[in-house]
Amino acid sequence: MNIGEIRAKYLEFFEKRGHAIIPSAPIIPENDPTTLFTGSGMQPLIPYLLGKEHPLGDRLVNSQTCFRAMDIDEVGDNRHTTFFEMLGNWSLGNYFKSKQIPWLFEFLTEVIGLDPKRLYVTVFIGDEKNGIPRDTESVALWKELFERKGIEAKEVALGSGADGYRLGMQNGRIFYYDASKNWWSRAGAPQDMPEGEPGGPDTEVFYDFGTPHDKKYGQECHPNCDCGRFLEIGNAVFMQYKKERNGSFALLPKQNVDFGGGLERIAAAKNDNPDVFATDVFEELIELLEYYSNGKSYDDSRHTRSFRIIADHIRAATFMIADGVKPSNTDRGYILRRLIRRAAQHAIALGCAQGQEKENELVRCAIIVIEKYKQWYTKLVGEEVYETISREIWQEEKQFAHTLEHGTREFGKMISDNISGEQAFMLFTTYGFPLEMTLEMAEEKGKSVDEMGFKQLMEKHKATSRAGSEQKFKGGLADTSIATTRLHTAHHLLLKALQIVLGSHVKQRGSSITSERLRIDFSHADKMKPEQIAEVERIVNEKINEALPVACSTISKSEAEKLGAQQEFGAKYPDMVSVYSVGPKGATKENPQFEKAFSIEFCGGPHVENTKELGGKFKILKEEAVASGVRRIKAILA
Ligand code: ALA
Repeated sequence: MNIGEIRAKYLEFFEKRGHAIIPSAPIIPENDPTTLFTGSGMQPLIPYLLGKEHPLGDRLVNSQTCFRAMDIDEVGDNRHTTFFEMLGNWSLGNYFKSKQIPWLFEFLTEVIGLDPKRLYVTVFIGDEKNGIPRDTESVALWKELFERKGIEAKEVALGSGADGYRLGMQNGRIFYYDASKNWWSRAGAPQDMPEGEPGGPDTEVFYDFGTPHDKKYGQECHPNCDCGRFLEIGNAVFMQYKKERNGSFALLPKQNVDFGGGLERIAAAKNDNPDVFATDVFEELIELLEYYSNGKSYDDSRHTRSFRIIADHIRAATFMIADGVKPSNTDRGYILRRLIRRAAQHAIALGCAQGQEKENELVRCAIIVIEKYKQWYTKLVGEEVYETISREIWQEEKQFAHTLEHGTREFGKMISDNISGEQAFMLFTTYGFPLEMTLEMAEEKGKSVDEMGFKQLMEKHKATSRAGSEQKFKGGLADTSIATTRLHTAHHLLLKALQIVLGSHVKQRGSSITSERLRIDFSHADKMKPEQIAEVERIVNEKINEALPVACSTISKSEAEKLGAQQEFGAKYPDMVSVYSVGPKGATKENPQFEKAFSIEFCGGPHVENTKELGGKFKILKEEAVASGVRRIKAILA
């Protein structure tokens, strides 16, 4: 069964059960400034889950294109993709558990034909603190369904993921987990949800590939284990609650169902092959890459990861460009840039032609994606979109080739026999050299590379960027490379220095930070004098040299205002806010010593932990007017 057939059967199944088929919304949310991308099928339906009437009724079904930027670094294993289609069905206060669970089971076992013995399910264990009961109702429904198939369905209470690794399967079929696993909202667990956000307990279905457990992940295997034996193929969220201002949970006006199932994952289960890249959507793409890489094989474990990254990233980039995104250094454009460049890096690692010709391997991959999906997604139909997608990918790849040239020159300057972890990491962050490439070049020159050192720095980098992507939802920054994080902290120092030099009337009016430079717009009437610019630079550099700690605290908005924390002009803040303070020496998270801090700002982060990490020298490149009474500064850490 291919992806197209599974999609069609799902829609038909729910249409027959009274659901209206709704089109997939774009992956760029239309009226939702809180998120960069559509990351789940429910996102475009939020107003209806909160109670608004949907024009097509209270039973809906679709296949929604989704993009999850948070998963970029995960791509390369057999199951993570940034872009995917999510099959979804919704009850807007119409049916609830007693219909959803049997329908889901029927669809998976009867329509798709999955062996019920290979299915395992998880349910919510309950949350006393928030008054949310244990989901025994779902358990009773699952039990009956399994027993009708002659399968004994024992319940096992696990708790958290860590409990799962400790307690294991215990011959269970139905597993209770806590909110870290069986609660769903866009922001995650109950404590992470902002006010007004809908969410609820969920029940998830896992397919068992029967592969042996790998103890590297934990002592015992369990459905949420990361070893790859189990794959989550569906999640029915019982969207019943809304987070209140005081942090408690109120029932929504309607008891909704929000079901989502990854289309490729269901196909992988159907194939009984855990590799989602072995499904038909990627088949031609991978064959084409095998051809362009002079016969390197997807099955050769040294190369599999590169094949997967290119296939995933180009598919995502194709849809993103079709939805109107262009590569740039901010927000969505930056994510698109990262996707194309990362795909290009891996094309090089595979020995592809490196963007030599206009219709090179990446453009051809995109054309395959267009062909594969255009029957279903009409936005991919027509000369114009075809031209735009090819052109954007080709141009970005060409630009990237220039950066790589600089990097190669830099590599040539590294004269010692051992490339340190820092050097390899610098080649990665500044010039986009993947480790694989550095290793290859080093081997050619008879040099060695400190791989361990590189990997340690990489882990740290990933942790920062993950924190960053999570922050975006809460109003932070989209682009979170280490270079950007440094400039973000420099930005705070700069605002304070401007107030010291020009006066307290200086307020931030806008800002933009990329990995290359920072930009701030601020209220001030006159052109700055050269000596004022020099003084601002001196202060910022002084604070960098003083090695001041940076602390993040969550405090009430009124307290933050009393402390004089800087707010962005026109921004609206919730009751509890996160503030970042720089200095004084000796300040800690527990005792931030706000009165003695050099700067305090309302901010979602991320930031470095100490100003000494800013390295380099702070330099103002340009000071100019942008509007009456508003000046703009562009600056770098050289
Ligand atoms: N909204 C749920 C999810 O994305 C179904 O998993």
